[in-house]
Amino acid sequence: MQATYDIHRSYEENYQEGPFITERPPARSPVSKQTFLGFSVHSLLGVPAGPLLNANWILAYADLGFDLLVYKTVRTVATPSHPNPNCMFLNVYQPLVETDFGHPLMASMTPPTSKEMISITNSFGMPSRDPKLWQADIAKAKAGLVSRGEGQVLIVSTVGTPGQGDLAADYAKAATLAVEAGADMIEINLSCPNVVTGEGSVYTDPVFSAQISQTVKKAIGTVPLIIKIGYITNPLTLAEMVRANAPHVDAISGINTLSFEVVNSNGTSALPGRLRSGVCGAAIRQCSMNQAGRIIQLKQKEKYDFAVIGVGGVMTTSHIREYQNLGVDAVMSATGAMWNPWLAYDWALASAAS
Ligand SMILES: Cc1cc2nc3c(=O)[nH]c(=O)nc-3n(C[C@H](O)[C@H](O)[C@H](O)COP(=O)(O)O)c2cc1C
Repeated sequence: MQATYDIHRSYEENYQEGPFITERPPARSPVSKQTFLGFSVHSLLGVPAGPLLNANWILAYADLGFDLLVYKTVRTVATPSHPNPNCMFLNVYQPLVETDFGHPLMASMTPPTSKEMISITNSFGMPSRDPKLWQADIAKAKAGLVSRGEGQVLIVSTVGTPGQGDLAADYAKAATLAVEAGADMIEINLSCPNVVTGEGSVYTDPVFSAQISQTVKKAIGTVPLIIKIGYITNPLTLAEMVRANAPHVDAISGINTLSFEVVNSNGTSALPGRLRSGVCGAAIRQCSMNQAGRIIQLKQKEKYDFAVIGVGGVMTTSHIREYQNLGVDAVMSATGAMWNPWLAYDWALASAAS
C-alpha cells in the first residue's frame, strides 16, 4: 500500500526525495472561500505538523488541495532524527480507549487490508535543520503558496529545546524566526511523546504551558498562535489547561499522538532504542473526538474566543464530517493524508455535492 512518505526509507531520504506521489487528482474547480483565523481559505481542511517535511512537501500537498498546511516542527538548534524505522503499522483494529493505556501494542511492516483502518506508530524525535536552513526553506514554501494565489495558509510548527536557556524564551525565539521566514501562523508543539526531555509533555502543566503561550504570543504579536496539545485523561486538568491558555491563543489543535509501548510479535521493542512511541491514525479517532468535544463544551460554557482544530484518525471524508458535526472550526489529517493523498480532492467533491 503506497504512501507519500515511504516508511521503508530513512527520514533523510524522505526529506530529500519525497513526497512519493504516483497518481495526482485532477485540478479542483474554484471553490467558495471561507475564513480561518482571519485568512481567506479554499477549505478548512489541512495537514497537521509531521507529514510535510519541507517546502517540497508543503507545495505538493497544496497542489493536492489541502489548504491549511503545517510545516513539520522546527527548533532553534539542528537536531537529528531518530534512526529508521520511524513509522510502523499497528495491529490495532478497534478504537483505543483509556483502559487500553498502559498495555503494549503490536507493530509490523504489513499494512491492513483497507486504508481506512490504518493506524501507525511514529517516532522521529522532532528533528530539525539549522534555523538558517529551515528559514530559507520556509521562505521557499511561502513564495510557492503566494504564486498559487490566495486561499492556502502556511502554518509553521515550532518547539523550544531544553538546554538552550529559558525554555519559554526558546519557544518564542523559534516562533519569531519562523515568522521572519514567512509563516502566516505559528503553531507551538506542547505535546510530542517522542522526546525524552520536558518539551514533550508541557501540555499537561496548565501553568507552564500558559507561560509559554503568553511568551510566544508577546513575541509574535498579531500573527495567529495555535497550540498543539495531546490527550488529557483528567477532564479537570483539561479544563484548567484550556482556561490558563485561552487568553493567549487563537486556536487549540489536538490531539497529538497517544504514547504507547510498541512491540514486535516476539515482544521486543518495535522501534529499537525507543520503548514508547506515538500512536496515530484510525485507532485514536475516538479519543481525539472525545477531547475535541470536551474543548468545544468548555469554549461554549466559558465563552472562550479561540478556534478548535480537530486532529486524529481522519481517514475519510465521513470522518471530516463527523468532526465538523462536533463543532470544530477546521480539520486536519496526518496518517490519512499520507496514505490517501486524494482525501482533499474527495472532500472538495463531497462538499460540492452537499
Ligand atoms: C509522520 C508523522 C510525523 C509527525 N510529526 C509531528 C511533529 O513534528 N510535530 C507535531 O506536533 N506532531 C507531529 N505528528 C502528529 C500529528 O500532527 C497528529 O497530531 C497525529 O498524527 C494525529 O493525527 P492522525 O491520526 O491524522 O495521524 C506527526 C505525525 C506523523 C504521522
